[in-house]
Amino acid sequence: TKDNLCDFILFGGHGDLAFRKLMPALFHLCKDKYLASDSRIITVSRRDMNNFQHIELVKEKLIEFLPKKSFTEEDFDRFKKKLHIVTIDFCTNEGYDKLKEILDEHPERDRVNYLSTSPNYFGGICKFLSHNKLITENSRVVLEKPLGRDLESSQAINKTVLKYFEEDQIYRIDHYLGKDTVQNIMALRFSNRLFVHLWSSNHIDHVQITVAESVGAEGRWGYYDEYGAMRDMIQNHLLQLLCLIAMEPPCSLDANDIRDEKVKVLKTLRPISPHEIATKTVRAQYTAGSSMGESVPGYLDGDIKESNTETYAAVRVDIDNWRWNGVPFYIRSGKRMQKRNSEVVIQFKTMPHSIFEKNNHSPLVDNKLVIKLQPEESIELRLMNKIPGLSETMQLQEVNLELNAPHTHKRKSDAYERLILDVIRANATLFMRLDEVEAAWRWADPILEGWEQNLVPMKRYTAGTDGPTAAVQMIAHDGRSWNDD
Ligand code: BG6
Repeated sequence: TKDNLCDFILFGGHGDLAFRKLMPALFHLCKDKYLASDSRIITVSRRDMNNFQHIELVKEKLIEFLPKKSFTEEDFDRFKKKLHIVTIDFCTNEGYDKLKEILDEHPERDRVNYLSTSPNYFGGICKFLSHNKLITENSRVVLEKPLGRDLESSQAINKTVLKYFEEDQIYRIDHYLGKDTVQNIMALRFSNRLFVHLWSSNHIDHVQITVAESVGAEGRWGYYDEYGAMRDMIQNHLLQLLCLIAMEPPCSLDANDIRDEKVKVLKTLRPISPHEIATKTVRAQYTAGSSMGESVPGYLDGDIKESNTETYAAVRVDIDNWRWNGVPFYIRSGKRMQKRNSEVVIQFKTMPHSIFEKNNHSPLVDNKLVIKLQPEESIELRLMNKIPGLSETMQLQEVNLELNAPHTHKRKSDAYERLILDVIRANATLFMRLDEVEAAWRWADPILEGWEQNLVPMKRYTAGTDGPTAAVQMIAHDGRSWNDD
């Protein structure tokens, strides 16, 4: 990994994710000089085109997807020297010799095989790479999610990939782990004495994790309808956030020490039984409504007329261990919500006694720590404070202590930049280990089965709203409410 010199081989390099996220990330890494100048980005695609056409296409897409000021001709001139294309129908062994020809120019070089394809092709690609002797000890493979639809299919994928790559060569991506604020959760928890004793059932009433998106499933029906909110978001992104909030301090920042702690959390998630699934989970689909002032179609108004796929899911998660006994984690995620909003709320318990109540003007509001991930990143601590002034009785108000990092003028890097750079540097800390993925499926499977058996009715919500009322009722049933202020 010296100077981050590598051959980056991008399978599915003409797909949506590649153009939207991966190429822009690689472009920024090149611009900021994180890639050695001799590094190559080799797109493997089924589209038959020459290098010149490929470079033109990448340029067009970068202009479309990069923030306005990021693209300059000068930077692109440097970037384009790294770009190569190989046309392969990667489902068959044909054509891999063309890839071999290019890669064999530098046999000793680190190779990052990024599989940005449907998981159906993962096994085949690894097999053909191996048959063509393209896997060296300096090779790594990056697997995009979804890693299967359930435990069984995920185990099948992993088993095949593991025939050709060692576990420590496999990088399973969850791009939420690459977000700066998500990484900051560890910094916040494990570098501040303030939180050490507060972080448990002694002081925390419950936790909420929300990932709300304003976009719908348009343009991705084919993929989305097979997966839905539970498989697309909850089983991976939201459970990963939950792990970072709930885990014990790892013994070091080494990849395996952190993963050991995360997997312990996943193993202690209480399975949701068929008789409580209807009170602990909610699933729903959006119907036509409006988003950002424009009317938008419902989930079933597009190509798909009939479907049991949820575009919204909410679950009450219980963690059976000493630290979190009796502290529910309410997690939810939906598409076509009123606004894009992702946050974690740590809701502290009520003060044991209030000396302010007598005035009756100053009911205490319980403290909250709000970690906002999107659209803006911030950390806020909600505290009670005296209202300044000479009033006869002391009046209090809730105030917001913002723990924002001082603004720098540096551009905020995207999660994919961090993660791609980590693979190039062979640092697996922010990637999921096999046992983590499996433990997450073990928890999600019974919910998905219960939904399939219709133990939970499919609710509806109007596009552009805060989701189904059933989710409000679910948390209200426990005497609590969502942080939707
Ligand atoms: C992806 C999901 O993993 O995450 C998408 O497949 C979702 O459905 C996306 O829109 C959300 O990512 P972000 O970073 O925009 O919150």
